[in-house]
Amino acid sequence: MRLKDKVAIVTGGAQGIGRVYALGLAKEGARVVVTDILDPNPAAKEIEQAGGQALALTVDVTSERDTLEMARQAVERFGRIDVLVNNAAIYGQIVRRPFYEVDIAEWDRVMAVNLKGIFLCCRAVFPQMRKQGKGKIINISSSTFFKGVPMFLHYVTSKGGVIALTRALAREVGDYGILVNAIAPGYTMSETNLKNPAELDKVNVQARCLKRTQMPQDLVGTVIFLGSDESDFITGQTILVDGGNAMH
Ligand SMILES: NC(=O)c1ccc[n+]([C@@H]2O[C@H](COP(=O)([O-])OP(=O)(O)OC[C@H]3O[C@@H](n4cnc5c(N)ncnc54)[C@H](O)[C@@H]3O)[C@@H](O)[C@H]2O)c1
Repeated sequence: MRLKDKVAIVTGGAQGIGRVYALGLAKEGARVVVTDILDPNPAAKEIEQAGGQALALTVDVTSERDTLEMARQAVERFGRIDVLVNNAAIYGQIVRRPFYEVDIAEWDRVMAVNLKGIFLCCRAVFPQMRKQGKGKIINISSSTFFKGVPMFLHYVTSKGGVIALTRALAREVGDYGILVNAIAPGYTMSETNLKNPAELDKVNVQARCLKRTQMPQDLVGTVIFLGSDESDFITGQTILVDGGNAMH
């Protein structure tokens, strides 16, 4: 078990890929704090039914109060915070459209959740990680940044911001033993993408070195690696997990 005795927080962990991360981290021995604006209890129950330990918290990552409370309750229940997976995002509900038709309130909301949310969650866990002299932050970006996917301007821009934040923050917190990395997933058959036309998946499969549909489980190994002691000299980096589509 590569995460035995570690405590991991997953934002946006109630469903989709975040839920798969939460279950995967627990399987490797982590005690997992499952947070979301949706009900995180079923995901936490699933972890407990499989013999793991979990805490379910309703957290809006755009609220400073919620994120501070998330860190406080994680420490109160489990005593420490070793890993933060910043997975929550506005993704599934975005309708792809030309940039001049993007609703301005939607632009603001995407930036608030996908970027400010990560900033707030990092700030919330920082005092505890600094006290421990060690911590791992894993930010979920997207391969869309590397490909410059059109009709999705706010989302792609926000995910580019996640990589910028990862690099700059890694330089600020290295002296405290805190490591910050990002994962850029390719188009993944999460619950939300099951609603999209099959054509979108086909196009992505054809563009890969490894020609098959990407599943949420394909991302779990990288999250475990970046959360574990095996990656203790890697920081400020972005790992593309997309079957060899985008490259950098
Ligand atoms: N599915 C893909 O193809 C794909 C590809 C690249 C990157 N990603 C990224 O992976 C992550 C998960 O993707 P998914 O397909 O499961 O998406 P999803 O939209 O199904 O899940 C996002 C989760 O974030 C939660 N969330 C939204 N706003 C929140 C808020 N304010 N506070 C807390 N939680 C909030 C949602 O409730 C949901 O559970 C996202 O960061 C997404 O951008 C997904």
